[in-house]
Amino acid sequence: MIACYFHERICAMSLYAIGDLHLHFQSELKAKNQQNDRLWKNHEEKFRKNCDRLLTPEDTLVLVGDHTWGKNLYNIAEDLEYIKRLPGRKILTRGNHDMFWEVKKTKQLNERFQPDLTFLQDSYESYRDYALVGTKGFTFEGPFYLDRRGRVIGWDEEAEEHAKKLVERELERLRISFEAARQDGYTKFIMFLHYPPTNILEKRSGFTDMAEEYGAEQVIYAHCHGETRFHDSIMGEYRGRTYSLVSGDYLRWNPMKVLD
Ligand SMILES: [Fe+2]
Ligand SMILES: [Fe+2]
Repeated sequence: MIACYFHERICAMSLYAIGDLHLHFQSELKAKNQQNDRLWKNHEEKFRKNCDRLLTPEDTLVLVGDHTWGKNLYNIAEDLEYIKRLPGRKILTRGNHDMFWEVKKTKQLNERFQPDLTFLQDSYESYRDYALVGTKGFTFEGPFYLDRRGRVIGWDEEAEEHAKKLVERELERLRISFEAARQDGYTKFIMFLHYPPTNILEKRSGFTDMAEEYGAEQVIYAHCHGETRFHDSIMGEYRGRTYSLVSGDYLRWNPMKVLD
């Protein structure tokens, strides 16, 4: 009887992902369109209802960064409480707006919030026989210079040089995550980034290369929100992996099912 129940529980669970909740229960709203845009209006309520409808307590939800506009633990307490109350196990990765989360303080965050919330950085989490690996990522976002027809004819090369250093640092962090899982015997990977794996000019990058090197089956990313940005990077099947954008407004606040 116990074995059967256990088996049913295992079979019932699913892995979901979404990003860019940009909560602001106690902090200053930095993007005014969140109040007026039809996709963002009452998005906290829409997302909570969708989670209650789709997720069970056995499910896992990965939130891929830009959780909050708040800058410190004091003014994100209600944002984290909102996330904590969503169904299932919650795993968070860093986004560019998550000022409350310095990489070197990840251990303290986990000590404070586990088991309700898991902060994933330089490490991995397991899901069935998969390792969930990830980091914030980075990609050069311009400024790009356009001609009168809107074609890119150049970009800020100094900013591009700086971006290369940030990309290298994030690739090192991603490798630490993959290697931690590999050393524990994992051979199946789902890779999570906050930034898209490529910018608007790239066909591939260090992140797509690393996904291929380790054989990640899926690459999940966010950061591209607002309808003009939904197609900034790779979507769908590409060189043997599946790439998915999971920014909240793109998903209309329905978490995307990654795995059964
Ligand atoms: Fe964002
Ligand atoms: Fe972002």
